[in-house]
Amino acid sequence: MHLSRRSLLAGAAAAGAFAAAPDVFANETPWSLGVENAPAEGFPQAPMRLIHGRSPRGLEGVLFRNGPGWFRYPGSATGHWFDGDGFIQRFAIADGRARHSARFADTNKRRIETARQQIVMPGFGTRGQPSAPVNNADSLNAANTSVMMAGAELWALWEGGSPTQLDPATLQTVGLRTLRPDLAHMPFTAHPKVEPNGRIWNVGFYGQRGVIWRLSADGGVEDAHVLDIGQPSYVHDWAVSARHLIIPLQPWLHERTVAPLVEGYVWRPDLPFRVMVLEKDNLANRRIYELPAMFFFHTGDAWEDAAGAIHFDLCVTPDADFVTRQAREMISGPELNAPGAELVMATLHPDGRAELARSGHRGEFPQTDRRRQGNRRELVAMVDDNIGHALGVMNWRTGAFAAHDFGAHQMVQEHLFAPKPGRSGEHEAWLIGVTLNTRERATELHVFDAAGVGDGPVASWRSPYATPYGFHGTWAAA
Ligand SMILES: [Fe+2]
Repeated sequence: MHLSRRSLLAGAAAAGAFAAAPDVFANETPWSLGVENAPAEGFPQAPMRLIHGRSPRGLEGVLFRNGPGWFRYPGSATGHWFDGDGFIQRFAIADGRARHSARFADTNKRRIETARQQIVMPGFGTRGQPSAPVNNADSLNAANTSVMMAGAELWALWEGGSPTQLDPATLQTVGLRTLRPDLAHMPFTAHPKVEPNGRIWNVGFYGQRGVIWRLSADGGVEDAHVLDIGQPSYVHDWAVSARHLIIPLQPWLHERTVAPLVEGYVWRPDLPFRVMVLEKDNLANRRIYELPAMFFFHTGDAWEDAAGAIHFDLCVTPDADFVTRQAREMISGPELNAPGAELVMATLHPDGRAELARSGHRGEFPQTDRRRQGNRRELVAMVDDNIGHALGVMNWRTGAFAAHDFGAHQMVQEHLFAPKPGRSGEHEAWLIGVTLNTRERATELHVFDAAGVGDGPVASWRSPYATPYGFHGTWAAA
């Protein structure tokens, strides 16, 4: 489809861009712009400049995004991309104009490290200092992975602990959001699933024990069910259909308790990729399916057909190399060369069979129309390759794949479905997301028509500055 990032980087290396020895404080490769520290004070609200097209009529709302935004102090750096401090960005679209603001989540981790001016706390891939004051999981909470609206509250999400509540207008941190006092500091992952009726499901895991959270639309806990998933798989994302919860259990297992956490995981290609399916109305009713060994971070979403088969798409790689090696080296090294994940569709049949259909397209950060959560849909949008420079949309029903290539100087980030007002069709939506333009050293906001991604953005705005490459976001329509 395009020049791969690997070949791009190889070309840049040949041209001498990487001639200097890697230096964590003077990294000048294009990718390094995505992992530079953002300003400690964040960004006050500033207008973005319209650089292409015009804002579509009816598109009004806020795109909130989260991702790691602080990686190093003089003399010390985080050991993994996933350990940067949560930097929450707010892209507000109103009256045809876009405005940007951003702020760090004011976490315990960030307060301690800012005071000491060094990386102190252990993390997913960061060893931390022996003197790190760790009382519970939230002592380490980086609030850096995603963001969600729970009623009128904005929550910055991590993976191993509580949500962090922010003011959705100012992005000021309110504090840790304890969902229920007896379950304080329990994990609440960054991939909650919101049913069309507003009900929120989420999971969180420590080793092979976990919690299934069921929340009302305003974030109140309706139920928290503790369960044993039988093996200590790394579960970053999962899926929910109309009647079932689907928990993929990949063979990357937490077998040793060491610091950093990532070094305690072992890739076990001798084991299958298991999928646990639980009935929403009776969580004790469970089935286990098996697929060949593979690694994943993200799912699209799930639905069930008339025959009772469950379908869900996910982006898979042959092994855990990205998380164990690449995402560590990219903080201090110059090269990102892990092969991108492939979009596949898993089907779980009522008779216990499981099968996998390949799409032939590489991509990550899959997104679907959240109005259809748990129900049949045909589209999934994704960033091509690993952290590529194109946005693609796969149509599972027709097999069609549409893409827009921004060019090798753009690092494309997750794009979300934003429904067109008064419309209900899956194709009747915009896709809204962000790129990091490494040539202009600027962050850009783009809007596509979901029905015509190949035609390019219908509107693009540019910030007067660059912001770090983020992970996930949410669209809050005005
Ligand atoms: Fe994620």
